[in-house]
Amino acid sequence: MAQPIVESGTARPARPAAGALGLVLLGTAVAALVAGGLTALSGARPASALGLPDPGTLTAVGLPAVRAVAEIAMAVTVGAVLLAAFLVPPQRSGYLDVAGYRGVRTASWAAAGWAAAAALMVPLTVADTLGRPVGDVLDAGLLVDLVPRLQVATAWSLSALIALVVMAGARTVLSWGWSVGLLGLALLGPVPVAVTGHSASGGAHDVATDSLLLHTLAATLWVGGLVAVVVLASSRGADRTTALAAAVPRFSLLALVCWCALAFTGVVNALTRVPIGEVFSSGYGLLVLGKAAALVVLGVLGAAHRRSTVGAASAGDPRALLRLGGVEILLMLATMGLAVALGRTAPPDTAAGPPSRTEVLLGYDLTGPPTFARLALDWRFDLLFGSAAIVLAVLYLLGARRLRRRGDAWRTGRTLAWLGGCLALLLATSSGIGRYAPAMFSVHMGEHMILGMLVPILLVLGAPVTLALRALPPAGRDGPPGPREWLLAGVHSPLARWMTHPLVTLPLFVGSYYALYFSGLFPAALPEHWAHQLMSLHFLLAGLLFFWPIVGIDPSPRRLPPAARLGIVFISVPFHAFFGVALMGANAAVGEQWYRGLALPWVPDPLVDQKLGGGLAWASGELPLLLVVIALLVQWSRQDERSARRADRRADTDGDAELTAYNAMLRRLADGQPLVAESDRGSGHTNVSSKAVGGSRGPGHEPD
Ligand code: HEM
Repeated sequence: MAQPIVESGTARPARPAAGALGLVLLGTAVAALVAGGLTALSGARPASALGLPDPGTLTAVGLPAVRAVAEIAMAVTVGAVLLAAFLVPPQRSGYLDVAGYRGVRTASWAAAGWAAAAALMVPLTVADTLGRPVGDVLDAGLLVDLVPRLQVATAWSLSALIALVVMAGARTVLSWGWSVGLLGLALLGPVPVAVTGHSASGGAHDVATDSLLLHTLAATLWVGGLVAVVVLASSRGADRTTALAAAVPRFSLLALVCWCALAFTGVVNALTRVPIGEVFSSGYGLLVLGKAAALVVLGVLGAAHRRSTVGAASAGDPRALLRLGGVEILLMLATMGLAVALGRTAPPDTAAGPPSRTEVLLGYDLTGPPTFARLALDWRFDLLFGSAAIVLAVLYLLGARRLRRRGDAWRTGRTLAWLGGCLALLLATSSGIGRYAPAMFSVHMGEHMILGMLVPILLVLGAPVTLALRALPPAGRDGPPGPREWLLAGVHSPLARWMTHPLVTLPLFVGSYYALYFSGLFPAALPEHWAHQLMSLHFLLAGLLFFWPIVGIDPSPRRLPPAARLGIVFISVPFHAFFGVALMGANAAVGEQWYRGLALPWVPDPLVDQKLGGGLAWASGELPLLLVVIALLVQWSRQDERSARRADRRADTDGDAELTAYNAMLRRLADGQPLVAESDRGSGHTNVSSKAVGGSRGPGHEPD
């Protein structure tokens, strides 16, 4: 059996090429200097804007410098694991090949740096928040007491923890499957920090948080990916040419997507903080312009790569890529430093007056009670789920068009179901429903039902996996595995099999209602935009996992007979109904403090609104389940038709041997002879017996 390869002649695991390593260390030092220097120059820092005492230069300058180091180490870690998981091919055995192995080992070093810098960010953040020199807070008791109460400090602790797990994983991972899992974990690294920074408070903090999250992820993938490709190009292994041939074109495509995402989310985020008119007249605005200029230059370098270095590097000559890539990395890391300084600079205070209570708590205002017109027309686009709905619809239509162009049929019903699911996702998160959901329990429950039931049912009826497997080009015998192979591996992975087991999907689908609303989770989540987004994501995924094996048309890891699927649906109905009744019958409103804090004039009593929400949950639950029953019956009858057609085709080819055997058996019965002739014993012609006892055994069962 093939084993992981250690570079021939060396006992030690492969280390990053010295040149590339030096370049990244130099760039990180520049970024730390830029972040610390600009923060010191601007003098302003969020804490002092709040009238807090000065924590001293070491903290004021040290914090942004260490933050820049942490964010760069995070990006390098993510990039190295990305290379192993998706940029270079693994061995056919499923083990990582040399380049992948080197990637995860590089990731383990970078993750060590990330963990150290993130851990250092914890006392620095506490010191900055308290306005005390960092030396004063280096007390275990004090930190244990304060860190859980300071979101940003908690976020950095979590980031440090993730870094440690990634570091350990990257030291042990040898298989491709696990490297994909490791990438998923590493990509979680930037999340806590991005959603708890100063974007998470103040006006439009919902848009600011979502845009910063996407922005940081795009920067992490782009910067980390380029570093990984340059490290690969500077390595001297025999595998370099084949690895580069796969990695460079793929990264080039990813870089283009990240560039666009960075520009879009950066501008959106900047506009939540500084109006266009103030861009040229505020320190914050000038830093934003600096970043925009950097992005333009990086775009030009990217285009030059596409024109000249990608082809040469894929053909085995990475010199041009190394030269241009080196300059690009230095500019990118300096821009990361600039970004951190930007995050430490107070935006200009342009507010006409003090923000309303709703604006402070939600990030935006509500103009009045949620009439039908407001729910339908008062849109507030959700950058995460709204964008996802549009991207999913466009990708699906591109896939269907590719099939049509090839002359392959694709059922319109599936396309309509998918587009219906995308539209429902868009409406639930970006129309007036999405605007009012964080403020009113009833609207929130409506959103929950759409995200947890209607959207998943429609999406799985769209058969996206089947479409993707038919539309995506196969890698071919010698090609590096691509999106099609990754999808197949994912669908057939042990994790997918486990996640679609009814003993997992049912408790996840119905149990999470009770776990979320009747524990302290929901009230704790209400004030946090990121927690609201996490709830929406949970409803969606729990619904997809529940309905995929039940009404999904795609090949799922677990195929249950229609009767069992129907059974699972009926088991969920009473739990769902009881949940609605429990909400309606409650004596106290869940999340009362939050709803009273909002003090919406049209919600005088949150309990009344909750009862409405309970009624919605009880009633609306039945509709999707009805859809499921109809879909199941349609699939059941179609399956019947298919097996009947198959039986007919077989009868046509073998002269209906089965019926002949059946009649022969009846004749033997009539003659009192044994059911199966001695000469047929063990010949497989035994399937007559079932027919004898009672005709067909129900859909889905092929005669054995
Ligand atoms: C059009 C170009 C860009 C614009 C308008 C832009 C704008 C922004 C804004 C407004 C923030 C939030 C700062 C805050 O918290 O107040 C930000 C954060 C960030 N940007 Fe950009 N950006 C751009 C390009 C880039 C590029 C090219 C990179 C990386 C190569 C980058 C990396 C980052 C990072 C890492 C953060 C998070 C910083 C932190 O909070 O620590 N951005 N950007």
